[in-house]
Amino acid sequence: MRLDKYLCESSDLTRSQARTVLGSGEITVNDEVVTRGTYVVRDGDVVKWEDDVLELIGLRYLMLNKPAGYECSIRNSQHPPVLSLLDVDKRDRLHTVGRLDVDTTGLILITDDGQWTHRIISPRHQCDKVYLATLAEPLIENAEDRFTAGILLDGEDKPTLPAVLERVDERRARLTIQEGKYHQVRRMFAALGNHVLALHRERIGPVSLDPDLQPGESRYLTPAEVADLAKSSS
Ligand code: URA
Repeated sequence: MRLDKYLCESSDLTRSQARTVLGSGEITVNDEVVTRGTYVVRDGDVVKWEDDVLELIGLRYLMLNKPAGYECSIRNSQHPPVLSLLDVDKRDRLHTVGRLDVDTTGLILITDDGQWTHRIISPRHQCDKVYLATLAEPLIENAEDRFTAGILLDGEDKPTLPAVLERVDERRARLTIQEGKYHQVRRMFAALGNHVLALHRERIGPVSLDPDLQPGESRYLTPAEVADLAKSSS
């Protein structure tokens, strides 16, 4: 990788700031001052900015227990962004894997790996998403069959893919879907004449929300979780 790119990827420097720092002779590679941005950094090279070793951050994969009141989108929002809950470097490089509504709580995945995100959210890859819904009205009798058959949502021309509904009690149900249409779960229950009072995502594919994470807390995924998610949605 070129040294100017390496500096940007391993620090908060912009490209033009990196050029200035290089020009000032503050960067060394293997203890030799290097001022050329085009210099190629190879595996094993030690890049320092004065006394600090600069290391590439690499791709990151996190899970967050999303509290209500935070927005996954970063544009035009009246609510704080979920990414503001993370205390990590270069936060602006990260994105959420799909979106949860402002009021929805629970598991959200966050990464800077666009390909991994695509595998998980693409309906073609059929990755399960499991939600616990608290409802305003008791569930109707044949709700399970309606969800299995697919539900025609308001404004759509094709029914939803088969979904699995499990009754928890009279007003709570666990729903497994593989798509991610806008407000999908709320619209599916609305099609049955019900209303979702609270919605919590418990699981995506093989990865469940870590019960040790309080609302607003996050942790890095383990390498096994990262690989299992990619595998389950390939
Ligand atoms: N379905 C919804 O209706 N809302 C969410 O936040 C996620 C799925």
